[in-house]
Amino acid sequence: MKKFIYLVFALLTSSHFVLAGEGMWIPVLLQQLNEQEMQQMGMRITAEDIYSINQSSLKDAIVLFGRGCTGEIISNQGLLLTNHHCGYGQIQRHSTLQNDYLKNGFWAMNQTEELPNPGLTVTMMVKMEEVTEKVLDGVTNEMTESERNTIIKDNIKKITETADQESGLTTTIRPFYHGNQYYIIYNRIFKDIRLVGAPPSNIGKFGGDTDNWMWPRHTGDFSLFRIYVDKDGNPAEYHPDNIPYTPDFHLPISIKGIDEGDFTFVFGYPARTNQYLPAAAVHMITEVSNPARIALRQKRLEVFKRYSDTDPKIRIQYAAKDAGVGNAWKKMIGESKGIHRLHAIDRKQETETRFTEWAKTDPKLKKMYSELIPAFEQNYKQLEKLTLAMDYINEAGMGIELFQLANRFRPLATELQKTTIDPDKLQELETTLKSFIQSFFKDYHQPIDREVAAALLALWTENQPENFRPDFLNVIAQKGNVQAAVNNLFDKSMFTSPANIEKWMQLNPKKKLKKLGQDPVWQAISDIHSFSQSNLLQPMRAITASNDSLQRLYMKGLMAMQPGKRFYPDANFTLRVTYGKIEGYSPADAIYYSPYTTLDGIMEKENPDIFDYVVEDRLKELYHTGDFEPYADTEGRLRIAFAASNHTTGGNSGSPVLNADGQMIGLNFDRCWEGTMSDLMYDPAMCRNISVDIRYVLFIIDKFAQATHLIDEMTIIR
Ligand code: ARG
Ligand code: ASP
Repeated sequence: MKKFIYLVFALLTSSHFVLAGEGMWIPVLLQQLNEQEMQQMGMRITAEDIYSINQSSLKDAIVLFGRGCTGEIISNQGLLLTNHHCGYGQIQRHSTLQNDYLKNGFWAMNQTEELPNPGLTVTMMVKMEEVTEKVLDGVTNEMTESERNTIIKDNIKKITETADQESGLTTTIRPFYHGNQYYIIYNRIFKDIRLVGAPPSNIGKFGGDTDNWMWPRHTGDFSLFRIYVDKDGNPAEYHPDNIPYTPDFHLPISIKGIDEGDFTFVFGYPARTNQYLPAAAVHMITEVSNPARIALRQKRLEVFKRYSDTDPKIRIQYAAKDAGVGNAWKKMIGESKGIHRLHAIDRKQETETRFTEWAKTDPKLKKMYSELIPAFEQNYKQLEKLTLAMDYINEAGMGIELFQLANRFRPLATELQKTTIDPDKLQELETTLKSFIQSFFKDYHQPIDREVAAALLALWTENQPENFRPDFLNVIAQKGNVQAAVNNLFDKSMFTSPANIEKWMQLNPKKKLKKLGQDPVWQAISDIHSFSQSNLLQPMRAITASNDSLQRLYMKGLMAMQPGKRFYPDANFTLRVTYGKIEGYSPADAIYYSPYTTLDGIMEKENPDIFDYVVEDRLKELYHTGDFEPYADTEGRLRIAFAASNHTTGGNSGSPVLNADGQMIGLNFDRCWEGTMSDLMYDPAMCRNISVDIRYVLFIIDKFAQATHLIDEMTIIR
């Protein structure tokens, strides 16, 4: 009976936490924790097919692309697929006015035409192993957080140095479950990565920021690269003699199609989630930080829009800034809304009450856990104010472009302050600055920045108390005229004029320093810097250290409280598997969204007057001729994108979406807006990942770009 009750309890608590679709699982634990469920949901392969160290497996085809996206190898010649928005920087860097690859797309018609990208890397995980005991060797419960960290750091250094040497690979050790477990990860890092193909932006970014974070979606968000290695097959810096990489495994691509309810999984590199935060932390994020940041970003977007709407040149100048500011703005609005809809804070509080009650049942538990939640609450109460003040620094202060520019001079100023200045270092810093200044002014429109500055400084003074504001702002607040202060900053600073900066660059170090010290924008920046260092960041560090140790303990406690439950660790930029189904959702009363879109939808959205909805002529031609074979669905339509219930986050962009047989059916690139709170709390009813249907990708490569040699390289399951 006792056993039975325990079982029921375990089941109840487990369903309370992990819901269908939720979870970002560690590949090495798949067999133990997930294989059975995945197969019950329809998967026809095994965990060993996904991750194996004994034979080639799917994991050999999955890579970290650059530092923030996922990519996958899709041919035996190292052909790599990722998102258009992940390759955007590379595509842009190769673009000129004559050859605007962003606008027109780019297709290498043979391997000699593929373009190198210095600095771009692709990281492939060879294996991972748990090393918790070794990392925590010498750590005791009585230690302070900083003593603990010192020992861990030393241990990690020793372990990775030996592992690097023995394996010839690059190893890192990462904490999981908030420092309750550690894994060593063996990586192979490729450095010669060439651009192979990209569609025009009005395919690769169709819908732009208007459709961003939203379903239904019609974006062909993909680009192609290729990994090159030296003639022995080893990773090497770019060299013209390098050859295409032969992978241990490349993903087969299925064009057999998909249906609602089909099992899918996503294999990739999610960056960061925070599922186990206490209620107080979620409150800080969604009730304090997000609203302030949303308001500040909204001001900037309003000003950008007003100018962009009337001047096409400004629209281009501010396109990337607008996308960057808008991406997080939209995400935060969705996140806070989703948290409210879920009553997530109340639910977290209920869990915490249960947790504290549970801790009282046993003297040992009581000693460990009963004071944990109150300690969290106290910390977050303090942290909330500091975080908000820091948000204003980052979003209001650093939202002013002129301040961003001046801030770039900090390393140079530090060098100038030294008693003996290193002339080479100085030269190097100035060269970097000069190229930054050039690109800065190319896309700078001062009237926008003046308006932004006035709006942001006004919001900042209105919403932050004096002791949480840097002095320069208090002076402005006292005088009571923000516009006059902005005029003064912009009229008197050298930073508004490339010519004045150039003149300043000619001065000798002593004069440079003196002149800089007199510049009002520099003074503001310096003031912001010293204020945030001593009044905000320093106290924040102490609280954060305490929160880290509380979070570690809370995680451990939650796991102890629910021994039958499967816990997945928060995302930490390591390789994970997440699984779900192709499914639509109901975002609001009486509305249901189907899980896939078609080319018809692109034609419905078409509007030559709206930049985000311009449809490429050639795509229209193909639409009218209706030549979609062999990529059409059973009804003869061309599918564009689909929604599914895989739990993904930033970093999962570019991840393959695979079917029950482990064949690629889509390319992940976004989440739906109603589900953007999934980084804090997952909702199976609302959280959907958004992917390009792989058949649209192939259609564009084949019919649109006529790069059939690329299709020939792939393994296509028909
Ligand atoms: N929202 C997606 C992500 O978080 C895509 C962003 C790129 N696309 C855009 N229109 N800004 O990265
Ligand atoms: N768009 C995101 C990325 O770039 C993915 C997401 O947040 O769902 O990684």
